Amino acid sequence: MEAGDHQEGAASSSSSSSKTSGSSRTSSSTTSFTSALTLSQLGDAHVPQRYVLPPSQRPISPSYPNLSTLPILDLSSLQSSSLRPHVINNIQTACKEIGFFQVINHGIPLSVMKDALSAANEFFNLPVEDKMLLGSDNVHAPVRYGTSINHAVDKVHFWRDFIKHYSHPISEWIHLWPSNPSSYKEKMGNYARAVQVLQQQLMELVIESLGLNPNYLHDEVENGSQVMAVNCYPKCPEPELALGMPSHSDYGSITILLQSCPGLQIMDQNKNWISVPDIEGALLVQMGDQMEVLSNGQYKSVVHRVTVSDENNRLSIASLHSLSLDKKIEPAPMLVDSEHPKSYKEFSFRDFLDYITSNDIVKGRYIDTLKENP
Ligand code: OGA
Ligand code: NI
Repeated sequence: MEAGDHQEGAASSSSSSSKTSGSSRTSSSTTSFTSALTLSQLGDAHVPQRYVLPPSQRPISPSYPNLSTLPILDLSSLQSSSLRPHVINNIQTACKEIGFFQVINHGIPLSVMKDALSAANEFFNLPVEDKMLLGSDNVHAPVRYGTSINHAVDKVHFWRDFIKHYSHPISEWIHLWPSNPSSYKEKMGNYARAVQVLQQQLMELVIESLGLNPNYLHDEVENGSQVMAVNCYPKCPEPELALGMPSHSDYGSITILLQSCPGLQIMDQNKNWISVPDIEGALLVQMGDQMEVLSNGQYKSVVHRVTVSDENNRLSIASLHSLSLDKKIEPAPMLVDSEHPKSYKEFSFRDFLDYITSNDIVKGRYIDTLKENP
């Protein structure tokens, strides 16, 4: 899979070039590789032209202030038999209304989360030559360092560097992960293992909240794919013109996201962008396209994007979970009846990768191509 071209709907192109000099905007070739972090460190007052979004896609600043509506679930309540049904209910409401919630008391120690972010930080701060050892344009590479979404083909570029790696089962992949910094495998590995356990627990809860047997797809979830997208969004001189990631939804079942500071925005039912606040120790949970299909549309995969800041670098680690590469997901038969006809075609992670290989992802979301009665 492409360890990462998991985003679907996106910006359309607008490129123009002009001769430039001094501190004005530069318009360098879109195929040469310059990382966003390198550009940030150069300290230019403007982003190069290729990062400038068409006006309709630029983030409105300040971001939409309605923060109070985002659900936060305390997973320690699952220990209490009287509180457990409330958690399931809250998950159902969150998934139906917004496809997103945050979890606290999820069992992953803060130190494990901080270590993973510090390993990411050390990796991105390596000299470019070291990172380029893992550089690849091949969306099927199991480990891949890159910038933007796919810098070789992106029309508009995004202010983001990333390292993506397959992560489950970890023994199959960890030898391919960065060996520099030397603590990377251990620190990121500890987090990856912990988050894989959490995703199994969350999937059971989400499946139960759909009224299904919590063991539905148990083995497929346990043996599913985990891809970690480790993202760096450097300080950006013109955060009102560029984005770190375009509007998209993730292909998988759920994504569990750790962020070092705010920057993620999710789209609510009224198509407003809501900035996700930073809660120390919390993890963000997003429904993906496989969940929308599995639930036969009861749960929506959440559309989200990443804004950038002129004050700080931001790191995030997105753990993208799905069924294994070739396992097709389809609407759960128990959720299909004459009143709720099957609304999506089945698909696998590989189908998604094939789609993004031969289709321009800026033109629309993959999930829209799966709808039976659009
Ligand atoms: C992703 C993603 C959000 C973030 O990697 O798919 O949406 O905050 N990341 O980095
Ligand atoms: Ni995403």
